[in-house]
Formats: sequence, structure tokens, C-alpha cells
Amino acid sequence: MKKSLSTLLSAAGLCALLLPVALMAADMTKMQTGMGHAAGTGMSMMQGADGMSLMMHITKTDPYMKWDLMPGTTRMRQGMEPHGALQNVYVNKLALKAIKDKAGMLPDGAIIVKENYAPDGKLGAITVMSKKKGYNPEAGDYMWLKYGPDMKIQAEGKAAPCIKCHTKAKDNDYVMLAPLKK
Ligand code: HEC
Repeated sequence: MKKSLSTLLSAAGLCALLLPVALMAADMTKMQTGMGHAAGTGMSMMQGADGMSLMMHITKTDPYMKWDLMPGTTRMRQGMEPHGALQNVYVNKLALKAIKDKAGMLPDGAIIVKENYAPDGKLGAITVMSKKKGYNPEAGDYMWLKYGPDMKIQAEGKAAPCIKCHTKAKDNDYVMLAPLKK
């Protein structure tokens, strides 16, 4: 009995060890596919052409947590459905400049990242808008991304639900929170 229990435990331990490796391997495959795609379309790999590489970009290459908050917003601002009850909205340098200059629209390479928290302060999801010239001219050239605290991607690319609702702010380059026009 004792032996089988310890065998079971070590088997469980092994699984726990192997699982992340397996997941990483899956991620790598996905990333490589993404890279192929990016190379094919001539898009900059700096930001990535798919959700996985965009996620890597904003967490590793240029961590969004070091960016400025979107002008006019505060830490843990109160948000609306379908996003978090509490939110932190970060903008990269290009987005910040365009918002400050009231440039009318965001430039290629601009990124907005929004952390969405439940009322109890628990992180629910991260939602991202990434401007890529030529990516989706019919809807403001944004790549949309949503991932959970477990880094699992829930929506990416030309995500119809995101676009549908953000179209309300079409005249403001699909951005809800900051006026881009003078
Ligand atoms: C039903 C409407 C609706 C849908 C669907 C929606 N959003 Fe939003 N989004 C908003 C509103 C309203 C705001 C302003 C912040 C707030 O009050 O929650 C916002 C803000 C944002 C922001 C901050 C920049 C800005 O526009 O102000 C990002 C980034 C964002 N949404 C990403 C997404 C992504 C990614 C999806 C799809 C997975 C999505 N949104 C789906 C309504 C929506």
C-alpha cells in the first residue's frame, strides 16, 4: 500500500514536471507558425503577427507593466461590461504620443493593454489592441487579443466581438477611453 502510494505520488510529480514542458513545446510550435506567417506577410516580428508573439512582446520584449497609464485614467479605474469592474489601462510610447498629440488615430506599432479585474481585485483577463498598418483596413488595422491570467489566449486577431462593440468608437479610431481628436 505504502509503495503504491509513493509510486502514484512520484508519477503525479513527473506529470506535474512534464506538463509545462509539453505546454511549452506546444507554444513553441505555435510561435514558429506565427513567425512563418509574419515573415510571409512581411509584418514586423517585433510585435508579432499572432496572439502568442504579441503576448511575448508585451510581457517579455517590452513589458507593458512599465508603460504609462492611458492619459486620463487612474490605477484600478472603474470599468464597464464586458471588461473588468476594475482596470489598469497601459499605453506604449507610440500610443501615448498619439493620445497626447490628439493625432486623430493611433500609428502603426501603437499598443494598448488593459488589465481587467473582478470587483474583489482578482485579475480576470488582459485585453489588447495592437495597431498594425495593413492588418485589417476595414476595422482600423487592429490586432485584438484577450488572454487569461494563465496566459491562455481566449481571442486573437480580427476578433469579431471586439470589433463589433469597439465600432461604436470608429470615429475615434476604435479607442473608447481617450479622445484622439482635437
Ligand atoms: C460590448 C462592448 C465591448 C466589447 C465586446 C469589447 N470591448 Fe473593449 N472596451 C469597451 C469599452 C466600453 C471600453 C472602455 C473601458 C471600459 O469602460 O470598460 C473598452 C476598452 C478597451 C480597451 C482599452 C482601449 C480603449 O478602447 O479605450 C482595450 C484594449 C479593449 N477594450 C480591448 C478589447 C478586446 C481585445 C475585446 C475583445 C476580446 C474587446 N475589447 C471587446 C467595450 C467593449
